[in-house]
Amino acid sequence: MQPICGATTPSPTSAAVISLMGSIADVGRDATRGGYSRPVYSTPELDLRSWFVEAAQRRSLDVETDRNGIIWAWWDVPDHERTGAVVTGSHLDSVPGGGAYDGPLGVASSLAAIDVLRERGFAPSRPIAIAVFPEEEGSRFGVACLGSRLFTGAIAPARALNLRDAEGSTFADVLRANGKDPDTVGVDHDGLKRIGLFLELHVEQGRGLVDLDASVGVASSILGHGRWRISVSGQGNHAGTTLMADRRDPVVAAARAVVAVRDIALAHESARATVGRLQPVPGGTNVIASRVDFWLDVRHPDDAVTAAVVERIHAAARTVAAEEGCTVELVEESFSATVHFDTTIAAGLSAATGGAPLLPTGAGHDAGVLSAHVPTGMLFVRNPTGVSHSPEELCEDDDARTGAVALADTLAAYAG
Ligand code: GLV
Ligand code: MN
Ligand code: MN
Repeated sequence: MQPICGATTPSPTSAAVISLMGSIADVGRDATRGGYSRPVYSTPELDLRSWFVEAAQRRSLDVETDRNGIIWAWWDVPDHERTGAVVTGSHLDSVPGGGAYDGPLGVASSLAAIDVLRERGFAPSRPIAIAVFPEEEGSRFGVACLGSRLFTGAIAPARALNLRDAEGSTFADVLRANGKDPDTVGVDHDGLKRIGLFLELHVEQGRGLVDLDASVGVASSILGHGRWRISVSGQGNHAGTTLMADRRDPVVAAARAVVAVRDIALAHESARATVGRLQPVPGGTNVIASRVDFWLDVRHPDDAVTAAVVERIHAAARTVAAEEGCTVELVEESFSATVHFDTTIAAGLSAATGGAPLLPTGAGHDAGVLSAHVPTGMLFVRNPTGVSHSPEELCEDDDARTGAVALADTLAAYAG
């Protein structure tokens, strides 16, 4: 096993991760927001899917897309069924205006890790596969990790199919438009049996590895997190003819509620609460809105505290809304409990990567969803800016190569 936390020389083939990332650098650039906008089943995300299929087929992997839209690329072992495989992978969809690495780094590193293993002449004794999960970010349909939730049965198909995007299209409509049969989505017990171990490599989304001065780390836990839609309703009216005293303006109530979100989070140690999206309806400069929808993201290591924070925010929103003559509705869109990764696997990944340090993350991942069903671990690659969900997200080439080698080492350790 090669040490990777120090100054290992990456294998020449690991440079594939750089060229793979370079080959998608122009896909889905967002000229307005900066960075990348690659919502699931948009043209850029479909282009990335085609890019992945082609790159996998070039490596003689057997590619299939399952009924939940997950792409699988198999390195089969003669006379071995596709069960108990070591599966790695990540996602290709992005948040609006996101960075280049969140998702695609894991996919490109998986392909590069295959190259590294082949360069070494490695012969797996159980199958290895790469999986690409759709709608990890939940940026289009609101529910994070929609593909892995459907695959594991963590969301009912009927609920998923009725989710709507910003244009009003349901998930079922979008599946149909992409040649998929909505009636077939849902839990895939056979698919789960194929996975013996799931390993996701991901760019780190904070400063943990910068502070540890390490290029690669192993995930110990994922912070519990959820999303709620809050709708504040008032009286739509004319901006010029409605006296200030006569207004029931939901924008004012929502603004006060957003300040309460920050204050309530500050009052709970380790809590994080964010409002990153607000939508006044109908949304006109000279129009007092009739409603404002805004979306709340709350995270805390203790799921009971997350629930308490959300309840306090709901109560505060009701109070300020009543003071502004408005009403409030709060609806949970998705929730993911805190995940503590299997300590044996985490220790195994650390050993396989020459002692990579363990660290927690505040970001959600398909690996978190899968961990309730199959043995799961994660590798993180240093992000020198510590910034993510933003164009400033970064990964240096040397770290990306070291990450690809670390992934190859872990695949070899578990599939050898
Ligand atoms: C995804 O990256 C999330 O943490 O929301
Ligand atoms: Mn993300
Ligand atoms: Mn991600």
